[in-house]
Order: sequence, then C-alpha cells, then structure tokens
Amino acid sequence: MIRFIEDGNERKRISRQVLEALTEWFEVETSREDYISGSEFLPMFAYFEDKTSTDAIGFLCLKETGKDTVEIAVMGVLKDHHREGIGRRLFAAAKDYASQRGYSFIQVKTVKPGMYEDYDRTNDFYKSLGFKELEVFPTLWDEDNPCQIYVMSLKSAISAIATRHSYRGAFRDEKVPVEDLKTIASAGIDAPSGCNKQTTDLIIIDDPETLDEIKAVLDPPVAQTAPAIIVVLSRRINAYRDRCFAVQDYSAAIENMLLAIVELGYQSCWYEGHITDEDRICDKIASILNVPSEYDVVCILPVGKAADDFHAPGKKKFSERVKFNSWNGF
Ligand SMILES: Cc1cc2nc3c(=O)[nH]c(=O)nc-3n(C[C@H](O)[C@H](O)[C@H](O)COP(=O)(O)O)c2cc1C
Repeated sequence: MIRFIEDGNERKRISRQVLEALTEWFEVETSREDYISGSEFLPMFAYFEDKTSTDAIGFLCLKETGKDTVEIAVMGVLKDHHREGIGRRLFAAAKDYASQRGYSFIQVKTVKPGMYEDYDRTNDFYKSLGFKELEVFPTLWDEDNPCQIYVMSLKSAISAIATRHSYRGAFRDEKVPVEDLKTIASAGIDAPSGCNKQTTDLIIIDDPETLDEIKAVLDPPVAQTAPAIIVVLSRRINAYRDRCFAVQDYSAAIENMLLAIVELGYQSCWYEGHITDEDRICDKIASILNVPSEYDVVCILPVGKAADDFHAPGKKKFSERVKFNSWNGF
C-alpha cells in the first residue's frame, strides 16, 4: 500500500533505508547523502507491504523545477521487489498528485541508455510509463554518466481521464477566470450527440448572488464553496422516429467538461442523482435561472480549485471488466 509521508525525518529515514540497499544506482556516498537529506523537504510517496509495516519497499520524491513542471527527484524500489508493479503504483500516485496541483509536465533524469545495464533497465522503466526522450546533456553530471532527460505531459486526454475523480470537498476562495469557464463549456458542447441534434445546453454561473441562490436550494448541501457552477440542460428531441438520445448526449457533454476541468487544474463532481431525486431540486434551479419549460435541468458541475486532499475511489480490476475477443477471453 502507498502512503504519503508527511514527516521530514520519516522521509529521510525511508530514503536512507531504501537507497543504502540500492548501491548499483546510488553507489557514490556523497550524492546518496544529498538525495537523503534533500528528501526531507520533498513530497514523498512510499510503498509498504501492509498497514502495519514501517519498513518501506520503495519510495518516490517529487520536486518542483518550474511553475509548470515537477521532477521525479529520486525514486527507488528494493531489488527483491522489482517487477512487482510497485514503481508503477508509486508513479501513478505521484502523477495524480502533480496533476491535481495543476502542473503541466513531469520530468525525470537518468544515465542515458547504452552505458550501464542497470541504468538501461531504468530507462526502459521510464519509457514503459510513457516518458518521452527530451534531450541528453553529455556533461551535466560527468562524461561517464551522460544525463538523459525524459518528459511527460500531464495535460493529455489520457492523463486527464486517469486523474479525474469526483471531488466533494471544499474549494479555494478563488474566482475561476471566464476564459477557463468558456473553455470548459466549449468542451461540453463539442461532445458528440445522436444525429447531431445537440440536445444539451449549459448555463455558467459565476455571479456570487446567483451562486448563493443555487447553493441555498442544494439540500443536503453540496458544492457550497464552489466559485462557479455549470448547470446542464437537456431537451428531449427525437433523433429519428421515436429514438431520443438526449441522455447519451448530455452524458458525453458532462464527461468532456469533467476532463477539461481536470486538465485546467480544477475539480468537480457529476451531481445528477442529488438534484433529480423526488425533491426535484432541479426544478428549483430551473426556476431561479428562468430555464424555458422544454428544457430539463439534469446536472450541476461545481468548478474550482480543490482546498482539500482527495483520493481515487476503489475500482474493480481491469481484468474483471475488460475481456479480449470473447466473454471468456483474458
Ligand atoms: C449519472 C451520474 C449521477 C451522479 N450523481 C451524483 C450525485 O448526485 N452526487 C454525488 O456525490 N456523486 C454523483 N455522481 C458521481 C459518482 O458517485 C462517481 O462518479 C462514482 O462514485 C465514481 O467515482 P469517481 O467519479 O471518482 O470515479 C454521479 C455520477 C453519475 C455518472
């Protein structure tokens, strides 16, 4: 299991315990000690066998190298536990953390391929995570250790999909720029719709008074600190004969918006059940916003920067839900 390590001394203890066991990579004592002392101040994820273990099997530290970029400052997994997917899980947690904090890129430095067998495996590992070669700096470290820099965008659609989670915590008291709200809404209306009937419309709310009116009817209260809310409207127009795809249309629009929200560094949650239940909060919202009667209010999406930490919910394993070629396939 992965833990985020809050305490600086604990970070140093973990990095010492792991790096001193990895002499193939961290042979030079002075640079190893630099990594250990540096880890005290860096966000650290560590992997443990179970809840009660105190000895880490691996860890990863992140470091900001620019306003938009973080670096894997140091990572290590005990050799007996290589090829168990621990490095991958540490990286997934760190990537999630960096994306949620709005970084655009993650980079990592290692010794360029073709020099040493152990480092070749490290290069293969980074490439298998999706890192791309940026540049080799032949003398950044020294001539025997040419530095290969890898980089990965945290802003791809696939990254946004992997890092999107429903966020139900508090939002920071920061207005969302109108341009960002327009980008998010554009992602919504760019979604596919059955026979291109475009049955989904949106109302963006960022005016504090209107926001307060909407928040007042959300009972039990949700999204109370959101600096903006996007209200999703749906019109039941038949695509052909009696086939209406309005639900599919607005679902595609909502998912597009959720991904755009994450990519821009904000958080949200698809609130549909909450507002369309028997108490018909959706109708109260429609009345506040003067929504024409042919539209249904189907969902609200709060938009804002997260003030609280949050974690991914448990999902079933890939192999339980996805098969190749037939239901009996692997
Ligand atoms: C159709 C639909 C309705 C939803 N309604 C609500 C809701 O009313 N309240 C809420 O807290 N979450 C709601 N959600 C969010 C789900 O609870 C959430 O997507 C699910 O638990 C999986 O978590 P994840 O989004 O973090 O992957 C809704 C999601 C969908 C797709």
